[in-house]
Amino acid sequence: MTNFWKNIEKPIISLAPMEDVTDTAFRELVIRISHPKHLDVLFTEFTSTDGLCHEVGRENVIKRFNISDSEKHWLDKTNTKLVAQIWGTDPDKFYRSAKFIADEMNFDGIDINMGCPVKKIVKNGACSALINTPELAKEIVLATMEGSNLPVSVKTRSGIKQHQTETWMNHLLETKPAAITLHGRTQKAMSDVPADWEEVGKAVQIRDENHPDTLIFGNGDIESLDEAYEKTRQFNLDGAMIARGIFGNPWIFRPGYQPGLNERLNTLLLHTQLFDDYWQNDRNFAVLRRFYKIYAQGFPGASKLRSSLMQTQNREEVKDVVEGFRERAPLITDV
Ligand SMILES: Cc1cc2nc3c(=O)[nH]c(=O)nc-3n(C[C@H](O)[C@H](O)[C@H](O)COP(=O)(O)O)c2cc1C
Repeated sequence: MTNFWKNIEKPIISLAPMEDVTDTAFRELVIRISHPKHLDVLFTEFTSTDGLCHEVGRENVIKRFNISDSEKHWLDKTNTKLVAQIWGTDPDKFYRSAKFIADEMNFDGIDINMGCPVKKIVKNGACSALINTPELAKEIVLATMEGSNLPVSVKTRSGIKQHQTETWMNHLLETKPAAITLHGRTQKAMSDVPADWEEVGKAVQIRDENHPDTLIFGNGDIESLDEAYEKTRQFNLDGAMIARGIFGNPWIFRPGYQPGLNERLNTLLLHTQLFDDYWQNDRNFAVLRRFYKIYAQGFPGASKLRSSLMQTQNREEVKDVVEGFRERAPLITDV
């Protein structure tokens, strides 16, 4: 298996892993509405190695990893790469998960989550807590590499309470991962303070000095593709990762593109359809509400439409609300 990261022209632009957001439905949608502009790599939601290594648990988590046929079609058509993100604490489970991913699934790479700051997860020593146990973190990276021949990357933060970029990057780089994405915030900072891009820049210098083969990507507060390019240039990065920026604008990977009302509504309906086809009753329909706020904005009547969409419980109700809105739309003047 080739290291696909090496074959993408820089700067490499990705959409971040986000739980309850970057499922197969939303990923397909983003690929479709971003095409033909700039999006190179997508990630799954983070998925537990404990779950993947447990006979019953695997059934519960595997839907985070299955790729719908239509997403696969769009990935192939646009040559967009898809990386599976995993988390946990036991190197042996990372080894077994990596083997499973390589043998049974259809991903281009594996990413290890060493960044999530959520209390119930870090209290068990997983994700960003691994910054405090660098020897275990390195064992985990090496075990994942041993388990498959897919390129292994790490997504992490700059420290626990304070930035410890230099020591932490040096530890990680010893394992020679294909790529590291550094989110310029500490575990303690959660998402409450602005990301510190100077720390991201430091990671590049450390890489340049010691381990030139690992690609370094920056993450934190990017709100447009132009900003991603600018940060990449300013800090000499190999690329950048966009996360919450997509909530402000799902068309973020097509700069300057302004979808009209009809396209916004069609996108809302397409997302609902893709979500419902894939998850059926296995994921709470209310997860879609976050997206309805995004699609239904910036046109007359958007606020009332949003309120009606917040009450919907299933695809048919969403369709009825949108069709009703379309019929009334020519008469609506308030935004
Ligand atoms: C709703 C949500 C879910 C997230 N889930 C994940 C995840 O599964 N794995 C991960 O590595 N990071 C996750 N993150 C963190 C983002 O990938 C990203 O690092 C963070 O939001 C900072 O980037 P931003 O400032 O551009 O949003 C999540 C963030 C959000 C907002």
